[in-house]
Amino acid sequence: MDFQDYRFHCFFITVNLLCLHILSVSGENVASSNVSTPFNISSFPSDFVFGASSSAYQYEGAVKEDGKGPSIWDTFAHKFPGKISDNSTGDLANDFYHRYKEDVKLMEFIGLNAFRFSISWTRILPHGKLSKGVNEEGITFYNNLINELLSKGIQPFVTIYHWDLPQTLQDEYGGFLSPRVVDDFKDFAEVCFKEFGDRVKHWLTMNEPYIFIVNGYDSGALAPGRCSSWLNNGCHVGNSATEPYIVAHTMLLCHAQTVKLYRQKYKPHQKGEIGIALVSHWFVPYSKSQVDKKAAQRALDFMYGWFLEPLTYGDYPKSMHDLVGKRLPKFTLEEAMLLKGSFDFLGLNYYTANYAANLHSFNTVNMSFSTDSQTNLTTERNGKLIGDPTNVSIFYVYPRGLRDLLVYTKQKYRNPTIYITECGIGDANINSIKQGTNDPQRINFYRRHLLAVKEAITDKVDVKGFFPWSFLDNFEWGSGYTQRFGLVYVDRSQGLKRYLKNSALWLKKFLE
Ligand SMILES: *[C@@H]1O[C@H](CO)[C@@H](O)[C@H](O)[C@H]1NC(C)=O
Ligand SMILES: *[C@@H]1O[C@H](CO)[C@@H](O)[C@H](O)[C@H]1NC(C)=O
Ligand SMILES: *[C@@H]1O[C@H](CO)[C@@H](O)[C@H](O)[C@H]1NC(C)=O
Ligand SMILES: *[C@@H]1O[C@H](CO)[C@@H](O)[C@H](O)[C@H]1NC(C)=O
Ligand SMILES: *[C@@H]1O[C@H](CO)[C@@H](O)[C@H](O)[C@H]1NC(C)=O
Ligand SMILES: *[C@@H]1O[C@H](CO)[C@@H](O)[C@H](O)[C@H]1NC(C)=O
Repeated sequence: MDFQDYRFHCFFITVNLLCLHILSVSGENVASSNVSTPFNISSFPSDFVFGASSSAYQYEGAVKEDGKGPSIWDTFAHKFPGKISDNSTGDLANDFYHRYKEDVKLMEFIGLNAFRFSISWTRILPHGKLSKGVNEEGITFYNNLINELLSKGIQPFVTIYHWDLPQTLQDEYGGFLSPRVVDDFKDFAEVCFKEFGDRVKHWLTMNEPYIFIVNGYDSGALAPGRCSSWLNNGCHVGNSATEPYIVAHTMLLCHAQTVKLYRQKYKPHQKGEIGIALVSHWFVPYSKSQVDKKAAQRALDFMYGWFLEPLTYGDYPKSMHDLVGKRLPKFTLEEAMLLKGSFDFLGLNYYTANYAANLHSFNTVNMSFSTDSQTNLTTERNGKLIGDPTNVSIFYVYPRGLRDLLVYTKQKYRNPTIYITECGIGDANINSIKQGTNDPQRINFYRRHLLAVKEAITDKVDVKGFFPWSFLDNFEWGSGYTQRFGLVYVDRSQGLKRYLKNSALWLKKFLE
C-alpha cells in the first residue's frame, strides 16, 4: 500500500459511512442491532482482542522453498484440479512467506492487536517426523514473523495444524486414519512449543476438524479426497460411513495428548494457554414441533458436540452413540480422562445458520456421516430465507446465531473462555480493485456480528476476542481464488498488490 492508495480509500470510506447507515437500516433483521446506538471498541472490555485470521497453505506460497516438504494439500491441489473451482493451487497463494513484513504493517495500520496464523508442518519437519530432521529455515521464518508482529504490539495466536498434513505421513500409515499419527503430531507440536513458546501465549492445536473431516473423508471434496465409491464424487478410495468417525477420534487424541504435553512441560514456565478452533453453524428448528427441536439439537451434536462434548465431558453426544452405533469408536477410560477439560480456551468459528428439520426416512444401504444425524438442513422456510444471501451460496447472514451459539456454549459446556477465531463473508465475481474494495456488505456483516458478541458478553458469556476471516483475500480451498473473504484486497493480476477494503478502514475507525 502506498500513500496514494490510502487517500483513494479514505475518500471512499467517507462516502461509505453514509451508505452503511442506509444499508444497515434496510438490512437489519436482528431487533437488537440498533443502528442509531453508537457502537465502537469502547463497548467491549478493555482487554478484548481484535485480530484477523489466516492459515499457512492459504497464505504463504513458497511451497517448495527453503526446504519445505510436500503436504496433502500440495498433492491434492495438483492431482485434482477439477475439485478446485478455478483449478488453482496454493503454490503462490499470497506469497506471505516473502511479504509478511508489508502485511504486518497493514495490520498495524488497521489497529489490530492480534494475528492468527498456522505453522506449516512440512516447513518445520519436511518429512513429517522429528526423527527425519528439523528444517532450520522454516524455524527462522516463523521466528521472524513472530518477532515482527510483537515489534508492532500484535499478539500471535498460533494454530499448530490447519489441514496441511505431511504427505509422507499420509503415504506411510494413512495419516489420521492411524493412531500412529498421534506421536508425530505431538512431536511437531513440541518443536513449536520449544522454538516459539517463549513468545507465543495462545496456541490452538488444530483448526476445524469438522470441515477437514467432512470434506476430506465424507464428501471427498477436499484433501485428502477420500469418500465412498457410491457417492460418485471422484474419490479413488474411502468409506464415508466409517472413516469420518475414525479420523475425528484420532484428531481428538492428537489434541488431548498435545495439551497434556504443553501443560506438563511448557505451560508452567511459558505461561501460555492452549485450545482448539471448532466451527459450528447455529441451527434453528424448522418448526415448533418436538421432532424438529430434537433435529436442531442433533445437528448441533453432529457438528459441534462431536468435538466439544468429548473435550468437556470425555465422550461423544448421546445422539451420536444412538445413531452411529458400532461405527463410533470408543474412548478408553484413560483417554476420556485425558480429553475431559483439555482446553484453556475455545476458538469458535462462526459463519451462518440453518433450519433443521427431522428426516423421517433415511438410507440404510448407502450410509455416510452426512446422513447419520437424520436431519434435513435448509436455509428457507415458507419461502423466506434465514438471512441475507451472500456470494458464498451456503452462507446466509444470521448474526443472532452467533449470540445464540455463544450462550448455548456457555450453558451446555461449562462456561468456557471463548475467542471468535473466525467469522466472515465472501465476495465473488469481483472484476476491479474499486469494486473489490467497496464492500458495504462486509461492514454491515461485521457490525452486526460484533453487536451479537457484545450482547453475548452482556449475557455473561466469557468472550475475549474476535478474529475476522480473513485478513487478506486468499486461497479458499475448493473455491480457489474465486471467493474473497479479506479485509484487504489482493490484486492477483498485478503482482499480488494489497489494497485496504473499506471494511478494513471501517474497522480501523471502530478500533480507534
Ligand atoms: C435504538 O436506540 C435509540 C437511541 O438509543 C432508542 O431511542 C430506540 O428506542 C432504539 N430502538 C430499538 C428498536 O431498540
Ligand atoms: C463510542 O461509543 C460510545 C458509546 O458506547 C460513545 O460515547 C463514543 O462517543 C463513541 N466514540 C466514538 C469515537 O465514536
Ligand atoms: C479445470 O479443470 C477441469 C478438468 O481438468 C476442466 O474440465 C475445467 O474446464 C477447468 N476449469 C477451469 C476454470 O479452468
Ligand atoms: C446406493 O448408491 C448407488 C450408487 O450411487 C445407487 O446406484 C443405489 O441405488 C444406492 N442405493 C440406495 C438404496 O440408495
Ligand atoms: C428438506 O426440506 C425441504 C424444505 O422443507 C424440502 O423441500 C425437502 O424435500 C426436504 N428434503 C428431504 C430429503 O426431506
Ligand atoms: C454478490 O454480492 C453482491 C453485493 O452484496 C450482490 O450485489 C450480488 O448480487 C451477489 N452475487 C451473488 C451471485 O450472490
